[in-house]
Amino acid sequence: MSEQIFLTGFMGTGKSKIGQLLARRLQREFLDTDRMIEERAGQSIAEIFDSRGEEAFRSVEHQCLQQAVTHTAAVVALGGGVITQDKNWELIRDTGILVCLEATPETILERVSRKEDRPLLAGLTRAKKLEKIRSLLSARAAYYDRADIKIISTDECPPDHIAADLAANLESRLCRP
Ligand code: S3P
Repeated sequence: MSEQIFLTGFMGTGKSKIGQLLARRLQREFLDTDRMIEERAGQSIAEIFDSRGEEAFRSVEHQCLQQAVTHTAAVVALGGGVITQDKNWELIRDTGILVCLEATPETILERVSRKEDRPLLAGLTRAKKLEKIRSLLSARAAYYDRADIKIISTDECPPDHIAADLAANLESRLCRP
């Protein structure tokens, strides 16, 4: 079980929550690229977007992914846009297994509306947010489709149940000779 386990998926699909529970179940270290970026930059993600722009954010994001893959057999929650950069995809493909968490645009809207901390959706009305979620989901579908395992993360299914199913699935895959 030495490969990394990466969790991808759109904002608000539960990557951080489920990732932490999964790491505990598999007794692995948990890493979250968004938190690594904030630590490295000494700023929140919203502040980085505001003061330095998205391109600078993506560059720090790539550096953090490079750092994450040097850890041994971790569970790594990826920011929702990590997978859209080819150089990130190459690192992910070469070092681990990719799980994608999915949710409907309406569920995503509910979850991301609880906080105003997603710069790509900031300052939009509810209707405009839903529109942007739908268009980003469709623009990113081909990237999320690269995942080895896809899991629907709904409000009805408690995160620990999802983590338990995922742990069982991953254990059988990773233990295979
Ligand atoms: C982003 C997703 C966010 C964060 C940044 C950009 C994206 O992470 O990295 O706001 O491009 O989808 P979460 O997916 O953890 O919300």
